[in-house]
Amino acid sequence: MALENKLNITDSTELARMEEKISKKKAVELFENGYLDHYEAGTFRMLAAIHKYLFDEIYDFAGKVRTVNIAKSNFRFAPVMYLQAAIENVEKMPQSTFDEIVEKYVEMNIAHPFREGNGRSMRIWLDSILKKELSMVIDWSTVNKEDYLLAMERSPIKDIEIKYILKQALTDKVNDREVYMKGIDYSYYYEGYAIYKAKDL
Ligand SMILES: Nc1ncnc2c1ncn2[C@@H]1O[C@H](COP(=O)(O)OP(=O)(O)O)[C@@H](O)[C@H]1O
Ligand SMILES: [Mg+2]
Repeated sequence: MALENKLNITDSTELARMEEKISKKKAVELFENGYLDHYEAGTFRMLAAIHKYLFDEIYDFAGKVRTVNIAKSNFRFAPVMYLQAAIENVEKMPQSTFDEIVEKYVEMNIAHPFREGNGRSMRIWLDSILKKELSMVIDWSTVNKEDYLLAMERSPIKDIEIKYILKQALTDKVNDREVYMKGIDYSYYYEGYAIYKAKDL
C-alpha cells in the first residue's frame, strides 16, 4: 500500500513514479528561482523549506516533522519523543570545515526529520552548506549510488567512508544544474520504512 498522499494514489509504484517526477520538477525550480537565498544554510528552517517545496503537491506532511518512529535496514532513526531536541542539537553543530559539515549531515540523517523524502531534501541542504561555507558542492554525478548508500548506512557508527566518498566528489561548479540534479536522482531508493513502537526501544 502506498503512503497516504494528496494525489489519491493507492499503488506504491505509481506513487513513486509521480513523486519522482514532481520532486524533480520542483528541484529544478528551486535551483532556478533563488528561493533558498532567503534561508540560512545549516538551519532546520532551511531543510524544512526544501522539503516543503519538493513535496507539498504530494504529501500533507511536507515540511513537517514526522509523528511516527521509523527504521530502515534495522537502523532506528531518532524516536519521535526526542526528535525535536535532536534537530535543535544538530542545528547547533559547527559547519566551518568539510569534516564538520559532513558530521552535521550525518547527524541530521540520524534524526531523519520527515516521514519520507529525507535523502533528497538533505542532499540539497548539504550542498547549500558546502556552497556557503566552502564555495564547493558535491558532484552527485560522480558518486556511486551503492557506495553512497552503504556509507550512509554505516555513518551512524563510523563516518570515515561517507567523508571519503563525498570529498572525492567535491567540485567548485556550484552553479551547474546537472551536478545538482544528480543528487535528486537517488530518489529511486523507493523502499519504505518500517514503523516501530516506542515500547520496542
Ligand atoms: N540504514 C540506513 N541508515 C542510515 N541512513 C540511511 C539508511 N538507509 C538510507 N539512509 C539514508 O536515508 C536516505 C533515504 O531517506 P528517504 O526518507 O527514503 O529519502 P528519499 O525518499 O529522498 O530517498 C538515503 O538517501 C540515505 O542517505
Ligand atoms: Mg524514500
